[in-house]
Amino acid sequence: MNQSLIAEAETCLQQSIRFYHGKPVGTVAAADKVLLEEQLNYNECFIRDFFPCGLAFLIQGKREIVKNFLEVTLGLQLDWENPISGSGLFAQVRKSLLTQDHENEEWVRPGQGLMPASFLVINQQEIKADFGQRAIGRVTPVDSGLWWIFLLNVYEKACDQANVPEEKIAHRPEFQRGIKLLLELCLAKRFDMNPTMLVPEGAFMIDRRMGVYGHPIEIQALFYIALKSGLGLLNSEDIQALDLESRLDKLVKYIRYQYWLDPVLLRRVYRYQTEEFGETALNKFNIYANAVPDWVLRWLDRKGGYLVGNVGVGWMDFRFFSQGNLLSIISALTTDKQSEAILTLIEQQWSSLIGEMPMKICYPAVMGRDWEIITGCDPKNVPWSYHNGGNWPVLIWSLVAASLKMGQANIAQGAIAIAEKYLANDQWPEYYDDQDGKIIGRQARLYQTWTISGYLVAQYLLQNPQHLELI
Ligand code: GLC
Repeated sequence: MNQSLIAEAETCLQQSIRFYHGKPVGTVAAADKVLLEEQLNYNECFIRDFFPCGLAFLIQGKREIVKNFLEVTLGLQLDWENPISGSGLFAQVRKSLLTQDHENEEWVRPGQGLMPASFLVINQQEIKADFGQRAIGRVTPVDSGLWWIFLLNVYEKACDQANVPEEKIAHRPEFQRGIKLLLELCLAKRFDMNPTMLVPEGAFMIDRRMGVYGHPIEIQALFYIALKSGLGLLNSEDIQALDLESRLDKLVKYIRYQYWLDPVLLRRVYRYQTEEFGETALNKFNIYANAVPDWVLRWLDRKGGYLVGNVGVGWMDFRFFSQGNLLSIISALTTDKQSEAILTLIEQQWSSLIGEMPMKICYPAVMGRDWEIITGCDPKNVPWSYHNGGNWPVLIWSLVAASLKMGQANIAQGAIAIAEKYLANDQWPEYYDDQDGKIIGRQARLYQTWTISGYLVAQYLLQNPQHLELI
């Protein structure tokens, strides 16, 4: 174990903290020294980026910043009644929102319960939230609320572990209201009959056009975690009113069946009947064998399997998305057997999924005409770069958590050993490029906070796997 590297990461994480009226409330996305303050939005605190930071702080026993973060972001949650009853930072942020004028905005109001992608703290005095109205491509941050409730649940467990019940917050009326608004928004009845959640393009970590609209696996895994968190955080009346248990049950069965792919199932896809009508159809989404890309058959190991990226009419997105698969293992959305098969696949495909830096965000990259159509000719997402098959060090925390959970410490150790060779020397880049992830990302920020905290969480978990209980 590399103590000096851990110490360096801890210092960097500490330096990324931002304060509001003197209180620590979050961490900036990147503390890159060559970035101008106003350049892009890396000086904002992103909810999804804060998750591994929050986890690192909780493991370090620093609960205050996580509590403040949860209060501030709850204060920013869209709630058109804007109640300000409640205490502390929540009420402070809420009151400050009263002065903001929405009249002349060009946008219509999204459903209440939405959490921002990020917030900016201006001179410690003012907080400005971004719900996508300023984001590149105007993407909707569907995952923010899901990461928020996940972190809230982890925070409550950390308070239990430290035996400080008086520090718990989820029972407070303002939190109960926030949790319900969030889950109501996720569960709202719309045009869809699937138990999964339907989202627009770029609604999560992949927040650019990448063909991840519809029912992407990362959102479904987070949705599952959010529903399970709701079970633990709400009272039984609210759980019943939201019908949480039955939705969870349907969601689990659906994902384990419709998204799962292994060599046996792949052969079934090759033999699928098509144009089936009626309740007994096996090929529910009318998928044609011709649509199976060539690489899948070679890539799938005999013992391996994974959850495909997306499922919809005439469409199975065969790409492997790491975060969705890893979160499914961590949360037990997959069965034990499926979880083991995913890890087997990762081991078998070590060079394509881990390579020189754990780990690839998705595999394979889209290329040629597909790249033109799917990404809209996005130069940042050229093949094997950024969201299109780049390697993202932040994913190491989920990889390590998933492999330790399944008793595969060898994967965790191997991944950390690779990451350690480069991360600090390369100044903690946001992502790496190329098929094997060897090149520092062409447009990567340095001192990317979730790269730093992802590494720390991975190390803390390896040192003491009991921390897994938090997640
Ligand atoms: C980029 C990433 C997104 C991340 C943000 C801040 O927009 O695509 O996942 O949250 O940067 O790091």
